[in-house]
Amino acid sequence: MRIDIVTLFPEVALAPLSDSIIQRARDAGLVEVAAHQLRDWSEDKHRRVDDTPCGGGQGMVLQPGPIFAAVEALRRPDTRVILMTPQGRPFLQETARRFASEGHLLILCGHYEGVDHRVVEALVDEEVSIGDYVLTNGAIAAAVVCDAVIRLLPGALGDARSSEEESFSDPTRLEAPAYTRPVDFRGLKVPEVLLSGNHAKIREWKEEQSIERTRSNRPDLLA
Ligand code: ADE
Repeated sequence: MRIDIVTLFPEVALAPLSDSIIQRARDAGLVEVAAHQLRDWSEDKHRRVDDTPCGGGQGMVLQPGPIFAAVEALRRPDTRVILMTPQGRPFLQETARRFASEGHLLILCGHYEGVDHRVVEALVDEEVSIGDYVLTNGAIAAAVVCDAVIRLLPGALGDARSSEEESFSDPTRLEAPAYTRPVDFRGLKVPEVLLSGNHAKIREWKEEQSIERTRSNRPDLLA
């Protein structure tokens, strides 16, 4: 797959994607990722890309011209255009799975107070939010989306099971707690059942713990 990110901060978008599992997936050719400077499509001599909101109000709004030019330059027949915005639909594991099956994602990052809505009306397939809070910079949100998508690409994780068994593979349950050695750390013990070798009992314990953890941390998922 290919991912293009259009942003005022290309280095912010790429930094989290340049190490570890994601960099290995890129090196292995599972995904090509590029981040582009939106100002490169500005026709203003000062490379401006924003202006004050029509009708008044706080902050600055990204103008349509540079974004239209960027999309026209980068679009392919199989492109899905995503806009990162706190006004978007929630980004969930199922969204990541759907995006991982696309050929080309073109991710537009908002900044300041927003993006001229003609961009949404004419270019954007999907407005996406990573959560109910406002970041300074949509490039951070774009990196989150890319990380969640790329790790799902076949071959990105060494062991295919590790992405299937985790939290949100079943969107109604959180994963059970995990422990490792030493079995006694400063008097804090690993639960006996996990050392028992009884796989039926272990499965039952994990199921109970998973429900308990969900009830405690995310009761909204059980509802
Ligand atoms: N830009 C600023 N905040 C955001 C959020 N929560 N999700 C996506 N893009 C954003």
